[in-house]
Amino acid sequence: MTFKSIKGTKDLLPDESGRWLHLEAVIREVMTAYRYAEIRTPTFEETAVFSRGIGEETDIVGKEMYTFTDKGGSSLTLRPEMTASVVRAYIQHSLAEQGGVTKVYYIGPMYRQERPQAGRLRQFHQFGAECIGAAAPACDADIIAIAADIYARLGIRCTLKLNSVGDPVCRPKYREVLQAYLAGVHDRLTLESQRRAETNPMRVLDSKAPQDIDATMDAPSILDHLSDESRAHFDAVRACLDDFGIPYVIDPRLVRGLDYYTKTAFEFVSTDLGSQDALGGGGRYDGLTEQLGGKATPAVGFAAGMERLLMVLEKSGYTFPSDALSVYIVGLDERSRRWSHVQAVRLRREGIPAECDFTGRSLKAQMREANKRGARHVVIVGEEEMASQRAIVKTMETGEQQSIEFASLLSYFLRLPVSPNSDASAYVSTH
Ligand code: HAM
Repeated sequence: MTFKSIKGTKDLLPDESGRWLHLEAVIREVMTAYRYAEIRTPTFEETAVFSRGIGEETDIVGKEMYTFTDKGGSSLTLRPEMTASVVRAYIQHSLAEQGGVTKVYYIGPMYRQERPQAGRLRQFHQFGAECIGAAAPACDADIIAIAADIYARLGIRCTLKLNSVGDPVCRPKYREVLQAYLAGVHDRLTLESQRRAETNPMRVLDSKAPQDIDATMDAPSILDHLSDESRAHFDAVRACLDDFGIPYVIDPRLVRGLDYYTKTAFEFVSTDLGSQDALGGGGRYDGLTEQLGGKATPAVGFAAGMERLLMVLEKSGYTFPSDALSVYIVGLDERSRRWSHVQAVRLRREGIPAECDFTGRSLKAQMREANKRGARHVVIVGEEEMASQRAIVKTMETGEQQSIEFASLLSYFLRLPVSPNSDASAYVSTH
């Protein structure tokens, strides 16, 4: 009997992990520059953290959560997103008392029982940031700038869609106006949207079904119903983005699938992604902290999919830094093999990636292996070299060979310039 990973989950195999490490290094670098510090919360929480935080009427809470009862009878849920967990931690550890604004970022796995397809998994990974404790529109723009900078650094072309979903003053009024409109087109809507028109009418505007899009073409826009405060906030976020040189398009139909948003909502979309076109998204959630039992605290954040980011990069032919091997040391008999291993360890201790053979292969087979691994240099040592205490060093790119004294070998490699395409620093910084 053999086993397979669960549908909608993926193994990250050794030949892919370098790409993930590179992306994580870029993300951490940008987050650190913006002065966000990492937060790691457990991958499961009490179910109510999410049902209350994200909203009972959302797809996530309604049908996608991995919820189970543990042996103690508690209802627990694998986190479908991080914002509710971060806010739970913010309240639990009284982070507000440390004064100022709490700025945190995260990278990690999330779980949603969705129908798997390209760009949609059941265990997927997000990176994201949350800025808790500031109401200023500048914070919304700061959060958007993080995501925009990460994408820009990776050379990704995407569109930033921006909207305001209003606040507790104007949204109920808009809801009524929208509901009245939807009642007029009721029969033209999909069954799902007919139901939503009652429970969560703004989500009808977010439907991707052509039938719904067609029926709601002339629906009233939230942007015509914003309170003065929400209008001023929206205008100020836009002004900041303009100052930063971050382009955006206003999309009054952008609602997003989580109920906690107030005022700003945004999404980064890419045409390279097919039907699941959202690279990432977020917005302001001024009511969430109170909803989860804390004091009313303004907050804003975003999260983005790692797998989708990789899909876009692979499509665009992005050059990931190579993790090519620097030195392969070929030993031809037992004594030289032992010596090779000692040299490999000495080089590694100096931070130079080195490899040697453990399986007693022939010279030809070891050279083939060195080539396959992309070694830049091969050191060859046999009986003769052990006797003369000089190794043959071959530079693979040029084919040039030289004889180097054993005693000078380490300093020889230490003096070589670092490959311009090597990402050694990134790997070091993530461990
Ligand atoms: P979200 O829009 O639900 O927002 O997810 C953010 C991103 O996660 C999506 O744009 C997408 O790239 C990725 N994603 C979501 N579901 C899947 C899936 N099943 N498979 C692969 N990727 C997926 C949030 O999660 C909010 N917590 C964002 C936020 C943070 N708002 C404020 N702060």
